Amino acid sequence: MRVLVLHAHPVAESFNGALYREICTRLAKAGHDVDACDLYAEGFDPVLTRQERLDYHAPDKNTANVDAHVQRLMRAEALVLSHPVWNFGMPAILKGYLDRVFLPGISFKIVDGKVRPNLRHISKVAVVTTYGADPLRAFLAGDPPKRFAKRTLRYLVKPGAAFSYLALYDMNRVSEEKRRRFLSRAGELMDRF
Ligand SMILES: Cc1cc2nc3c(=O)[nH]c(=O)nc-3n(C[C@H](O)[C@H](O)[C@H](O)COP(=O)(O)O)c2cc1C
Repeated sequence: MRVLVLHAHPVAESFNGALYREICTRLAKAGHDVDACDLYAEGFDPVLTRQERLDYHAPDKNTANVDAHVQRLMRAEALVLSHPVWNFGMPAILKGYLDRVFLPGISFKIVDGKVRPNLRHISKVAVVTTYGADPLRAFLAGDPPKRFAKRTLRYLVKPGAAFSYLALYDMNRVSEEKRRRFLSRAGELMDRF
């Protein structure tokens, strides 16, 4: 499968950086065609401009500044998100990617005023993420990144698409052993992807 891996972390030597490399390596070993998109390394600009907002609903104009990213998304048959949880959301660079690339006519269509999913060519999705908070604190905060993945992202892709949300919580206290095990679990998830 052609797998687009979207990664958002500014530090290559971080734990999330290690997860990203493991994800890409194991997907490639399993025979997938991996499109590795490290948003920081590629210098992705997450800021939706005034003109982009004005053209947001114009299908002939709205992809003008992000066409290469739109092509990559439309070629993908599977999607993996790799990012830490920041302020109970995703890093701004990834949020900005969604704002600028998940456009009307691309990730969704508006039909009779209602949003209809448009990433039907994507039949597998995985999110691999880490939290500073423990599961209870994340739950009490409503766990917005998990809800986004499970309710919004999942809705945009092929109905019944395989979906995984793999999260390591409590990163501020987690042992080396638990980190190692999580890295293995992320790799195993990609082996079976
Ligand atoms: C800017 C920033 C905001 C953060 N906000 C949260 C948060 O709202 N909830 C949470 O669980 N962890 C939060 N954290 C902790 C990160 O999730 C944690 O540092 C990360 O998962 C560790 O992975 P890393 O070593 O690869 O950076 C935050 C960290 C940073 C740097």
